Amino acid sequence: MAVVKLIVVSDSAKSVAVLVSGTGTLLRSILDNQKDRYRVDIVVADQICPGIQRAKNAGIRTAVVPMETNRNAWNDKLAAAVAAVNPDIVVSAGFMRILGPGFLEQFEGRTINAHPSLLPAFPGAHAVRDALDYGVKVTGCTVHYVDAGMDTGKIIAQRPVAVEAGDTKAELHERIKKVEREQIVELLHNATVENGKVLFP
Ligand code: GRF
Repeated sequence: MAVVKLIVVSDSAKSVAVLVSGTGTLLRSILDNQKDRYRVDIVVADQICPGIQRAKNAGIRTAVVPMETNRNAWNDKLAAAVAAVNPDIVVSAGFMRILGPGFLEQFEGRTINAHPSLLPAFPGAHAVRDALDYGVKVTGCTVHYVDAGMDTGKIIAQRPVAVEAGDTKAELHERIKKVEREQIVELLHNATVENGKVLFP
């Protein structure tokens, strides 16, 4: 009896949506390092910003969903914009907004955030300044799952960055971002998706 081997070849590239608010240098790294392991299908911002322009230049689909007084309505619109590509992973890369229930109901477990400190130290929008003001000798970066809190979700990966004497906020942040750009790409390459959740080795 002939044995028939069935080989299923699937498109294994994970679909990624990136959320940005500003410069988008993490986004640039994510875009520049797309290989067969992931591809960016949409970039969504809460305002017109260089990150959106970067995405447009790269021929990636974009959407801008400006913040509204009604945060629930905004969360729903943001979720709808992202859902248009049904991504496996949502990356908040310099997205300066807290994601609420309307978004997390759909994307919790597959949304991750890059943060420029070693959480739980220095959560919030001023992590680099706060670390410098505190006088720590080592800070770094964290990628974590997004939950409804401010930088409180389960930690996925962390890398240290030494604070140097006389560092300005901009100098320290740039050294942290250099590490973040490598870290996020490595995580996206190695991520696996199971039952709508993203997992990391
Ligand atoms: C990064 O430090 C990220 O951790 C934080 O915002 C910064 C984004 O930088 N949430 P850029 O806009 O990608 O250059």
